[in-house]
Amino acid sequence: MAQAGIADMIEIDELNHATILWNLHQRYFKDDIYTYVGPTLLAVNPFMALDAKYPPSVIEDYKQIMQAEENYLEVMRSLPAHTYAVAAYAHKQLIVTKTRQAIVIAGESGAGKTEAAKLAMAFLTALGSKNVDESKGPLATRILSTNPVLEAFGNSRTARNDNSSRFGKYIKLYFDKEDGLCVGAENKNYLLEKSRVIGCTPVERNYHIFFFILRGAPDATAKRLGMTDAKGARKHYSAFRYLATCNDIRTFKDKDGNEKKESMEARDLKDYAELAAAFVSLGFPQPEIDAIHDVTAAALHCGELVLDPSTFDDGKANTPVSVTSTAVVAQIATLLGIQNPQDLVTEVVMKGALEGVAARSPDKLTNVENAVGSLAKGLFDNMFNWLVVSMNQEILPEALKSPSPSELNAFE
Ligand SMILES: Nc1ncnc2c1ncn2[C@@H]1O[C@H](COP(=O)(O)OP(=O)(O)OP(=O)(O)O)[C@@H](O)[C@H]1O
Ligand SMILES: [Mg+2]
Repeated sequence: MAQAGIADMIEIDELNHATILWNLHQRYFKDDIYTYVGPTLLAVNPFMALDAKYPPSVIEDYKQIMQAEENYLEVMRSLPAHTYAVAAYAHKQLIVTKTRQAIVIAGESGAGKTEAAKLAMAFLTALGSKNVDESKGPLATRILSTNPVLEAFGNSRTARNDNSSRFGKYIKLYFDKEDGLCVGAENKNYLLEKSRVIGCTPVERNYHIFFFILRGAPDATAKRLGMTDAKGARKHYSAFRYLATCNDIRTFKDKDGNEKKESMEARDLKDYAELAAAFVSLGFPQPEIDAIHDVTAAALHCGELVLDPSTFDDGKANTPVSVTSTAVVAQIATLLGIQNPQDLVTEVVMKGALEGVAARSPDKLTNVENAVGSLAKGLFDNMFNWLVVSMNQEILPEALKSPSPSELNAFE
């Protein structure tokens, strides 16, 4: 494949900002978005699918790197620069050196880290798998299905990126050290941005999942979740306080270069369908899928709780702030399986919920407001962590799921 500019910038005689930018510019306009700088791959975000230039079938070309003998570095360098090449090289090194390899993906928000990670995962899981419970479906499909789930619950629209990851992610892929086949994977997540659950700035959106469910869930589900109005019509996202300030309009340039605006609704509907399919691929039972919907909706409804501070008296009367929206309280309690809705109210209007104090006194309005927000954030964050753990159970190598007899012996 003929390439523009210089494919490895280490070969540029005078390496400075101007020559680097000029070279990247030359290559970018020929859709050569990948350029090496020695062992590092630099990817320029194309902001469009480059399926014609890099169809999925090119994966086959990069498999040559693993099939090569000692000259695998030469084979890698003979192929056009690509994320697949980096993934193939790391895999080959793993097998040759029998030492763990890491691919570090760095860049500013919107640079393309998540997309690059998905390409590397797609390549490495396409190599084939072994020692897996095939009754659960192909391991590669299960591993790749974790991406739409993590993005639905952990990504949102920001000023810089319509699909910004709001958590840190570390993914481990495990391979058989002899034949290099994939035996499993494991996701670790760090620090989800919890503040976003209860609102965002006017140029951003809350987590995608709220929009996906609101727009994409089947009618009966939307009704159960309190996402329909009295006439049975789907509520608009602006009816929910935590979503009301969100900016759902995306500006983009069409193929003629004209600026266009569109709602993210069509994308949300497509992504909800992809999420639903991912849950099925991962083997989540329907009651768990329902519970995930319920907890997400419960977090959203926390924003609808109306507080009346006029009843608050922490003196003689000892009366708490009132929660006047009884229907919302009942809805949240039902979604969370809390038998007595009053228990939910007590948790937010009285002091000492976290301290486990037995004799609890009424709390002032600002603290009650914070308690409601903390409830929403805590529900969402715990569910996110639970999702990562649950998905790992479906993709972890069999040997890591439960101690093998030999490991037990070693323990003794
Ligand atoms: N290789 C690519 N091919 C096509 N589009 C891409 C590619 N890389 C990035 N994009 C586009 O850029 C957008 C932002 O990329 P991505 O979400 O991967 O950025 P990020 O570095 O993970 O940002 P953040 O730090 O905000 O999570 C993608 O949604 C996609 O539209
Ligand atoms: Mg990202």
